Amino acid sequence: MKRVLLVFLSVLCMLGLAGCDGNTGKQSASDDVHYDDYIVVGFSQVGAESDWRAANTVSMLDAFAETNGYKLIFDDAQQKQERQITAIRNFIHQEVDYIVLAPTTEKGWDTVLGEAKAVGIPVIIVDRMIEVSDESLFTCWVGSDFRKEGDTAVAWMEKRFGNEPLYIVHLQGNIGSSAQIGRTDGLDEGIRANGNWNLVARKSGEFTQAKGQELMEELIAQDARFNVVYSENDNMAYGAIDALKAAGIRPGIDVFVISFDSSRTALGMTLAGEISYNVECNPLHGPRVQAIIGQLEAGETPQKFTYVEETAFDSRTITQEVIDSREY
Ligand code: AHR
Repeated sequence: MKRVLLVFLSVLCMLGLAGCDGNTGKQSASDDVHYDDYIVVGFSQVGAESDWRAANTVSMLDAFAETNGYKLIFDDAQQKQERQITAIRNFIHQEVDYIVLAPTTEKGWDTVLGEAKAVGIPVIIVDRMIEVSDESLFTCWVGSDFRKEGDTAVAWMEKRFGNEPLYIVHLQGNIGSSAQIGRTDGLDEGIRANGNWNLVARKSGEFTQAKGQELMEELIAQDARFNVVYSENDNMAYGAIDALKAAGIRPGIDVFVISFDSSRTALGMTLAGEISYNVECNPLHGPRVQAIIGQLEAGETPQKFTYVEETAFDSRTITQEVIDSREY
């Protein structure tokens, strides 16, 4: 924990002289902030592109609340890696106790994480994975096995459709992110293994509902013929389903939608049959990262890589109870 000028900064904030976030009253990453009696965590979040991301942000804000002994400096990178690099440099300048990074993409972190390492700030990676030349550049990682998620979806497709010919529209997430890479690799393997699976279109909808809808509208306008939509997250699936329905194409009857995340809204759509299969991606990482920091504070060494347990939901077997008990 560091020495602090909290009261002084609060006064500056009230006078509008320091870079406070207007909505939350938190200091922005550009301030030279130190906080007394708290563990200071700088969290660089990917953005606010999806329901999954919103649930993940809430989980982190809850875990790193002041009542738990933390001061959280939160930065939303708006899906841009360069913003994350700037945020990390600001965290270093602010001498935070820990840096938590939810990375946009896998590559491109060596230099800035080297800077954090040089000043001895532990870096915890959460959600997606990073690819670095030296794994000592980060303390540990916790997140999803995105390749396993893709494989789970493909195994279901093989069982559900057997030898039926599939004409697949593939909506990808942000290119270069682990969530995109793993889910795409799973599908590619499925296409290689099943001679009757045909890729009709493959485009990135950047994990957003608006892009998912836009891409599906374009394909429908081009009179593309397909019977499966493999959407790499729920929000793109929502957009795609809206476009399908607007064109009189019935999801679950004319076209089968496979999605990832399993947020509560999407599970409702799975129960309704609009999404045929939904592979879970768990966003509730706040308590997991908090536990890691607890270990580090106690002088323990956390496990380097931790994959969270995940499941999947079939529209033919999901129940209302599953949806009612959903936390996100
Ligand atoms: O990295 C997790 C992925 O990122 C989720 O599947 C997606 O919804 C989010 O934007």
